[in-house]
Order: sequence, then structure tokens, then C-alpha cells
Amino acid sequence: MSKRRILVTSALPYANGPIHLGHLVEYIQTDIWVRFQRLRGNQCIYVCADDTHGTAIMIRARNESRSEEEVIAQSQQEHERDFADFGIRFDNYGSTHSDENRRLCAQVWEAIQAAGLVKTKDVEQLYDVEQQTFLADRFVRGTCPQCGCPDQPGDNCSKCGTTYTTAELVNPVSTLSGSTPEIRTAEHLFIELEQLHPFLDDWTQNQEHLQAEVANYLKGHFLGSADAAEGVKTLRDWDISRPAPYFGFEIPDSPGNFWYVWFDAPIGYIASTQQWCERTGESLDDWWRSEECEIHHFIGKDITYFHTLFWPGMLKTAGFQLPKKVHIHGFLTVNGEKMSKSKGTFIKAETYHRHLDPSALRYFYASKLGPKLDDIDLSLDEFVSKVNSDLVNKVVNLASRSAKFVKDVGLSQEYPDDGGLFDKAARAGDSIAQAYENCDYNRAMRLIMALADDANPFVEQAEPWNLKKDPAKADQLQDVCTVAINLFRQLVIYLTPVLPELTDKTAVLLGHPITHWDQSQTPLLGTKVAKFKHMMQRVDQKDIDKMVDDTREEQAQELADGVRQNAQNQFHDSPDALAAEPLAEECTIDDFVKVDLRVARVIEAEHVPDARKLLKLTLSLGGEETRTVFAGIKAAYDPEKLVGRLVVMVANLKPRQMKFGLSEGMVCASGTGGAEVFLLSPDEGAIPGQRVH
Ligand code: MSP
Ligand code: ZN
Repeated sequence: MSKRRILVTSALPYANGPIHLGHLVEYIQTDIWVRFQRLRGNQCIYVCADDTHGTAIMIRARNESRSEEEVIAQSQQEHERDFADFGIRFDNYGSTHSDENRRLCAQVWEAIQAAGLVKTKDVEQLYDVEQQTFLADRFVRGTCPQCGCPDQPGDNCSKCGTTYTTAELVNPVSTLSGSTPEIRTAEHLFIELEQLHPFLDDWTQNQEHLQAEVANYLKGHFLGSADAAEGVKTLRDWDISRPAPYFGFEIPDSPGNFWYVWFDAPIGYIASTQQWCERTGESLDDWWRSEECEIHHFIGKDITYFHTLFWPGMLKTAGFQLPKKVHIHGFLTVNGEKMSKSKGTFIKAETYHRHLDPSALRYFYASKLGPKLDDIDLSLDEFVSKVNSDLVNKVVNLASRSAKFVKDVGLSQEYPDDGGLFDKAARAGDSIAQAYENCDYNRAMRLIMALADDANPFVEQAEPWNLKKDPAKADQLQDVCTVAINLFRQLVIYLTPVLPELTDKTAVLLGHPITHWDQSQTPLLGTKVAKFKHMMQRVDQKDIDKMVDDTREEQAQELADGVRQNAQNQFHDSPDALAAEPLAEECTIDDFVKVDLRVARVIEAEHVPDARKLLKLTLSLGGEETRTVFAGIKAAYDPEKLVGRLVVMVANLKPRQMKFGLSEGMVCASGTGGAEVFLLSPDEGAIPGQRVH
């Protein structure tokens, strides 16, 4: 078969958050497919990028007092680190905030304009006056207009399920500032997708670009059934602009408006390819404007609409090559439930990597992934038992029980009689390859493990560890190990797309690189065998527990940070006062109770002749008890207005003789002095003479 030219992408992860185990389903699925294509000898490149634009990044940058560029640069670094840690290898990892992307967006936009697909409409949206930004639905909460339930999200009610627009919410509140937003009207640009209806109908329904269930879903929900009335418009206009302020690209012919993040994000696939082309001297047209190139997108089911309707529509209009296939996968659940922050199952890639082997996750996902859209479950118990029983006990065991016996002599010169095991496994190669090609990794893993199940009894019956004891059986021992190692190597070749590290270690053990699928068809003979080194660690339940504990802790920290951030947005309390006067040395409760603080009422207040700063206060502690206090609050308080109010005083302070008289205590106040002095006052109901604890 001739060499295929294949371009593969995964969805561009949002720069706004860390990579978690849910994301990794997709990137591992894609990486396996790419590695498989290369192992088959096809030319295959894998590009991706961070998806950087939108309101969320803008808000985060504001909260952290950093520029958006700084925020996305850090995310990108973290994302690339996580992907590398899991063996996910891109030919180019770009950013949607790149010059290449800006230029390509302008190009696609021009084509869409020229095709007459753009129109403008007024859109009413909530606007946060304090934060000076329009509010996306998720930044608004309010009372459901249908059932009156308070504190509901901006787009639908969690109580009665009604959907509404944020403008319809009763008593809306901006979660960014806590203020009441106002309704503002702005002109938005829309793409009239309905004009592309016939094309999209054909593209989604008449060829094998989509899994059957996806094609049916689109037909049923958006493209209209065959018997829908003629001229019924089923594809809604797509709002692709956002008014300033917005972190994104400003639309060249519409100043003050920016492309909505979902317009420029998929174009990022092309921009990332272009960066790769520039680096390698390739031509972009060979990859995006050539029928010789197969484009394959891998995405999750939540972003189906964008990739199967908008994106093909944009590509078609701008004259780019359409995807050969959009591969859509389901969602990850952990222990049978949605990943949950409170249960400690919202596990970040980084946290997993701190405790467990990435290869184990790659294998587990492979064993779960099929060609359909079903969700896949990471049951942590099953994870431990499956990885240990399949990879450690069945596969690696073949090598660990035989390699050490042929370290000095190497493999036999001729392939011994193995009862047809090697040939049988070689013949299985085509079915395994077909399963990989169809993204039916679950089937591929089952076929491979069935071969491992055949190979293990051979070693158990031949008992190389017993042969080793009898010097007369040295030849037999070498033959048995030659079979075991070749059966092992064959499995490793088939597992290469999933477990590239195991492949590398096997290549080192046998002094032969594994570079092509067809190497599974011929045994390796007469070569040296290096000292056997550990190939794969058993998964230990203790490490799983540590990972879940760490995740819970991270969540608690995140929650606390969130509360602090919200308070800051709402109250804007500056850190300056505390910084100007750091906290005093720690004291004990015994130290504290030495100071007797009491509620007191100001019953007289007067200026002190000749004193620049002082007022003379007479304080009542109830009944007949009064104290005279000189307080440095003259610049801040008018004496007449003080009479009658409650204050807090230090009542057991040693009296001090001052130039103007005897001061018998102190009133409590904060501030830097002068006019910036603030008296402490107890809440309504406090009674003079009460002690303050
Ligand atoms: N930025 C968009 C994609 C733009 S593509 C032009 C986006 N980003 S994302 O970070 O939310 O998700 C990236 C990919 O990971 C998506 O395909 C999404 O479906 C997938 N997953 C995110 N969480 C997932 C699970 N819990 N399970 C499986 N896949 C998940 O969407
Ligand atoms: Zn409701």
C-alpha cells in the first residue's frame, strides 16, 4: 500500500485551566493513532495549540494583575510539560494568539464576507459597569424568571430547568464584581450558516466523515429530517463577534469588535500547521489544500457542533481541504461518576504524574476506548488490577522470566519450534492493525492480550528456571528463551503506539530498534541480549490513595483562593495597610486579657486650647463612672458629633499626666493619623461598661 499523508489534530485545550485526566483521554487517544500511523510507514504529523482567547482569560489576568500574554505563556508551558510527561508528542504545539493565526483568520474572514455570509444584528447583553465588560452567561447569577428560584446561573434554572437569556434574569448580579449589571445593546456580526445547509447536509450525511451516531444526531437536531417543510430554516445564525473589551483578535473591518474565541480557535489548527511548515520547509498547501492529504480531527462529544457544522462550513467557504474524518469520543467518568472536585476525582495530569506511571494510564485508556461515543470509566480499582494483571503479569513477565538466562549467549541462530505461536501472532497483526485504524483500541488490546495468554503457558511449561540448573540443557534453555523473547517482542511491537517507553526499553534489551509494524512478522535471531532492567512498575493502591488525597487538598486550596478572589473583586481591599505595619509578635491569651477593653459612651467632647491634635473626651462606663481621655482625633472628628456615641476604650491603662491634664485611658482607633483616624464603635445594643473580649 502506498504511503498516506496524514494530518492529525486534537482539540486545542483552553489556556484557562490545567490539563486533567479527562483531557488526557483525547490526547492519549490521538497520540496512539498517530504513533500507529507512523509505525505503519505513513507520513503523519500531529499538531495542536493552546486555545487562548476569550473573557475567562481576560478576567483571570485582571484578577492576577498580569497581562493576558503572561497568563497564557505560563499555561502553555504547563500544558506542554504535562503532554510531554504522558508521552504525547506533537510536531508543533502553537497558540491561537499567534501572528500566523491572526493572518489566517483575516483570510478566512475575507472569504466568508465575499461569500455574502455575514450580517449584523443588535444584541442585548448584560454589562458590568464596575468591571467595564459585557458578561458571558457564566458570569451572571440571578432569580429564575419562571419559578422565582434565587441565585440561578445566567442561562438556565437548576431548579425548574427553564432556559432563558441573561437579560431575562430577575435581579441579575455580576459574579465578577457583585454589582448589578445593566442591559446594553451592541452590534454583533453573524454568520448565516443556513446558506450552507445543502453543503452541510451532504458533507455530514453522505460520506464517511462522521461516526454514524454523530451523523444521525446532526440530522435529527440541526439539519432537519427529510420530511421537514421546504424552506424551513434549521441552522441558527452564528454570533461570531464580541464587543470590546475582549481578549482576542480585533476584526479588521469592524473596529471595536473581536472575533469570538470559537471563530479563531479551529483556525489555530491551520496556524499551528503553518508554523510546522515554516520550520521544516514544507508547503502549507500540501497539507490544507491538497486532496492527497487526509485531515483527521479528534475531539470530545461536547464540541461536536463546532467541528461538524461551523468548521466544515468555514473550511469550505475559504477553500481549504475538508477533514476526512472527525473522530469523536465520549467523556471520562471516575469510579462511575462525573469527575468531581469534592470527591477528589477531578485529577490533574500533574498530580497523577507525581504518583503514578503515565504508561499505566495510556494502557488503561487504550483498553477502554472504542470507536463509539460512549463515556469511558476510570474505576480506580479496575485500573490497579488491569494494569498489573495485563502489563506486568502477562506481557513484561515473558521477558523478565527469560531474558536473564540468555544474557551471555544471546538468542538462537534459528527460530525453534514453538508450536506455531509466533506464526499465529504474526497472522493476528492485520486484525490488530485494523482495530487501531478504526480507533477500536479496546479490540486491539483484547487481541494482543489473547496472544499473551497463549504465550505464557509456553514459558510455564518449559520452565527455563529449571533448565538453567542442568548444564546439559543449555541449548534447550537458549531455545526456550529465544521463543519467549520473540513472543514478547511481537507483543511489544503491537503495543508500541500505546507504550512507546516499553518499546524503547525492549529495543535496548535486544540491541535492535523497533521502527516498523512489519518487524512483528519475522523473529529476531542470533542477537545479544543486554542485562534485563526493570520495564514496568506494579501499580500500588497506596499511590492511588496519595493521588486522591493530593487532589482533595488542591481543591480545598482552590476553593479558598476563589473566596478570596471574589472578596477582592467585590471590596477591593488593598494590601498596603498591612504591609505598612506588619503584625506584632505573637502573644498569649494571658497577655491579651491584661488589657481591659470596655464599651464606653462619649458624654462630653471639647477642643483643648493650644493643643493642635487633641480633643478632650469624657467617657461614661455606666452609672457614675466616668473617665477623662485626651485623644489625637481633632483633625478627623467634630466634637459636637461625638457626644452620645459608643466607643471602645482601654480602661486599665495607667493614668498619665499630660500638659493639659490627667489622661485616664485611651480610645481605640485605627488609621495613619491626622484626618485618617477611625474610631472603633461597638454594634447597636452594646452597653457602656461591658468588657470587650
Ligand atoms: N478550547 C476548546 C476546543 C477548541 S478546538 C478548536 C475546548 N477546550 S477544553 O480544554 O475544554 O477541552 C479540550 C478537549 O478535551 C475537548 O475535545 C474536550 O471534549 C476534551 N475533554 C475535556 N474534558 C473531558 C473529559 N472529562 N473527558 C473526555 N474528554 C474531555 O473544548
Ligand atoms: Zn426556575
